[in-house]
Amino acid sequence: MTDGSNTQDAHGDDVTPLDIGSRRLLSDGRAIPVLGLGVWQIPDGKPVQEAVHWALESGIRHIDTARFYRNERGVGDAIRTSGVPREEIWVTTKLFPFEALWAERAFQRSLGRLGLDYVDLYLVHFPPPGLLLSTWQKMESIAKQGLARSIGVSNYKVDDINKTLQAADIPPAVNQIHMSPYHYSKDLAESCEALGVAVEAYSPLTRGKNLDDPVPVSIAEAHGKSAAQVLIRWSLQRGFIVIPKSTRKERIESNAQVFDFALTDEEMEQLDSVTQFSDSVLTALSLRRGRKPS
Ligand SMILES: NC(=O)c1ccc[n+]([C@@H]2O[C@H](COP(=O)([O-])OP(=O)(O)OC[C@H]3O[C@@H](n4cnc5c(N)ncnc54)[C@H](OP(=O)(O)O)[C@@H]3O)[C@@H](O)[C@H]2O)c1
Repeated sequence: MTDGSNTQDAHGDDVTPLDIGSRRLLSDGRAIPVLGLGVWQIPDGKPVQEAVHWALESGIRHIDTARFYRNERGVGDAIRTSGVPREEIWVTTKLFPFEALWAERAFQRSLGRLGLDYVDLYLVHFPPPGLLLSTWQKMESIAKQGLARSIGVSNYKVDDINKTLQAADIPPAVNQIHMSPYHYSKDLAESCEALGVAVEAYSPLTRGKNLDDPVPVSIAEAHGKSAAQVLIRWSLQRGFIVIPKSTRKERIESNAQVFDFALTDEEMEQLDSVTQFSDSVLTALSLRRGRKPS
């Protein structure tokens, strides 16, 4: 996919135009919304409830929480009071690796805090040292009971995924990893896709650190968009599922408005190489767009 106007099926073929309702087919046959709201560091109670409500009002149908975030209760409350049918919302939570030995009990507690009958995706938050395969067996047991409709991993390297796959009845459907132009793990992403494991991009906005940088800002200006929207769009056009976080209504709304423009191949490449971007390339870019270099 190069122009970002399409989404992909499991074989990487373009199938339908990307929009706020777009979903990505996973190896287990389920379809995950390509854009979600991440809720790490949003306090439980009113702040997380408001954030989830604003996301759902903006058309987002995917919420990414974790036991570690300590806000599963608020996420569940927000879902129940949103007026959006439960089955329309994709809910992800994660197993904290310290609880890997009793993963099934930890999952039941997450489910209890969420107040839900099932989650859409349960992830192993980090590879549990020495417990990779036994933990995955517990994840499979949870999936076989229908309590987690999909299961996957997070922060796994290729070796971790290969070891898991060799012993798995149910392969991990996703690997949620740190991903943005400023943290572009291209080889890992390509290996995951080749193994049938979809990539979910976390910290896609670089936790806010690079939103004033010249490359995303200059591309954003060319499209009349924000740098945050450009970084989200980069993830979508690279074929990643993406879960930006915000606590603010106007940012959640604007982060969802990423389906009315597309980055060109050249802009995607500029973003790909952003960490190596030299002053001379920046200068040339400014000159071509008719602006004086700063
Ligand atoms: N699996 C893992 O190990 C792992 C690790 C990290 C994150 N995650 C998941 O990925 C999600 C996203 O990653 P993240 O929270 O690390 O960071 P992020 O989404 O890259 O960035 C969030 C930061 O950007 C700011 N921001 C959001 N929208 C903005 C906008 N339009 N303009 C300017 N600033 C904006 C937010 O501030 P405000 O809130 O004030 O708007 C916040 O400080 C997490 O919430 C979590 O669900 C998973």
